[in-house]
Amino acid sequence: MDDIILETAGLTKEFLGFVAVSDVSLRVRRGSIHGLIGPNGAGKTTCFNLLTKFLPPTRGTIRYDGRDITGMKPAQVARLGLVRSFQISAVFPHLSVLENVRLALQRQRGGSFDFWRSETLLRQYDDRARALLDDVGLNGYADLTAGELPYGRKRALEIATTLALDPVMMLLDEPTAGMTHEDVDRIVALVKRVSAGRTVLLVEHNLKVVSGLCDTITVLARGKVLAEGDYASVSRNPEVVTAYLGSEAEGAAAHG
Ligand SMILES: Nc1ncnc2c1ncn2[C@@H]1O[C@H](COP(=O)(O)OP(=O)(O)O)[C@@H](O)[C@H]1O
Ligand SMILES: [Mg+2]
Repeated sequence: MDDIILETAGLTKEFLGFVAVSDVSLRVRRGSIHGLIGPNGAGKTTCFNLLTKFLPPTRGTIRYDGRDITGMKPAQVARLGLVRSFQISAVFPHLSVLENVRLALQRQRGGSFDFWRSETLLRQYDDRARALLDDVGLNGYADLTAGELPYGRKRALEIATTLALDPVMMLLDEPTAGMTHEDVDRIVALVKRVSAGRTVLLVEHNLKVVSGLCDTITVLARGKVLAEGDYASVSRNPEVVTAYLGSEAEGAAAHG
């Protein structure tokens, strides 16, 4: 039997009568890298906002790790290990790369920034922060300010600050958006590495990234689940092909 870590039933979000997410039933297997794909405006980010409790659903339920989290607050689900990157983990541009990760670790531990800290404790954070920077390939960047990092490295830092929260399940919304080829390859390798022992739900436009990373893929279109399966099966699905071609045709028309 499959071990399902996250399950939604009839998840629906309406904005003033416009249905952005419509009756979505999603099942994510523990330990998998699950992709959520679909044309622009399909409802992917809204789904993420529902799952991490940044938006209340209009209808439907969300179960995570055996609990109904539908009525919980974002901080509560984060404490249960369901963490969204690029949102909970703000990066402070004027602090150094190392300080950013250290702050995330301190926040994870107690949530307060005490005035009194022992040297030993700070040293422990430093060691753990450096290990995390190693994990995401930023060991040579520790003393740069975060704002000075090249774009692709900034995303890696965001992943490091997310990892500092020790998530059980990570939600990544378009981690490779706007990246160069080399950066994309590095992030793919990084997601693969950090997914060990975790579950990852990934929104991603780059289908090469999706095919390389995801065990299971759910395709959304106009708020509804259009198809689900492995990459080979969903990419062969005529409805999926039409949804993508349709959205590209609309895009081409919109751009004249
Ligand atoms: N806060 C909001 N108010 C009104 N409409 C919204 C809001 N957020 C998203 N939408 C609409 O919901 C649809 C889905 O958006 P989104 O989830 O961002 O799509 P995706 O991430 O798949 O591109 C879009 O048509 C978008 O305009
Ligand atoms: Mg989006």
